[in-house]
Amino acid sequence: MEIGRGAEAIITLENGTVRKWRLPKSYRQAELDERIRQERTLREAKITSDARRHGVLTPIIRDISRFELKMEHVRGEKLKDIITPEISEKVGEMVGRLHKGGIIHGDLTTSNMILRSGKICLIDFGLSFYEKSVEAQGVDVHVYFQTLESTHDMPGELEEAFKVGYARAYPGAEAVLARVREIKARGRYL
Ligand SMILES: Nc1ncnc2c1ncn2[C@@H]1O[C@H](COP(=O)(O)OP(=O)(O)O)[C@@H](O)[C@H]1O
Ligand SMILES: [Mg+2]
Repeated sequence: MEIGRGAEAIITLENGTVRKWRLPKSYRQAELDERIRQERTLREAKITSDARRHGVLTPIIRDISRFELKMEHVRGEKLKDIITPEISEKVGEMVGRLHKGGIIHGDLTTSNMILRSGKICLIDFGLSFYEKSVEAQGVDVHVYFQTLESTHDMPGELEEAFKVGYARAYPGAEAVLARVREIKARGRYL
């Protein structure tokens, strides 16, 4: 059963296991296309597992081949549909732990977060990477705030709640949140 189709991949559910297969992109030269799909598949598998070592809940990776991952199906509700300030504070803690561990997610939208038994599970690490700079962390948080502003009511409250959780989990939070304000101001004048 198909459960998702993004710009990059087709996601199907086959007896309890999610299969994420990265599609060929005909606008890219074939060898380059294969390299990109392979690289993102490997990266997603590696960082999905690595994030767990930093206390961030992610699906268990069950199998990996060149352009395809098989992983645990996370049953729950997407944060996109159920977010509240209380949940956004938990997102802040989760992202704080991730950043403290040196990981940037790269696509922190509420469609990539699933609430299961009161805990948030983070998915979709295909654009993630290892970096500890304030700028990379700031852009990561900025993407989350942009999602709140474009798809949710009362984004201000959700952002404030996020900041509380983020600062609790991550000692470097203050500098990052200052950078997020700069990034937002930059965007306005582009
Ligand atoms: N492990 C999983 N458990 C449950 N649902 C998943 C899982 N992986 C993907 N999905 C569903 O498929 C959608 C798309 O998968 P995702 O990895 O985010 O790829 P994309 O790059 O297309 O956004 C997700 O928003 C989610 O609804
Ligand atoms: Mg996604």
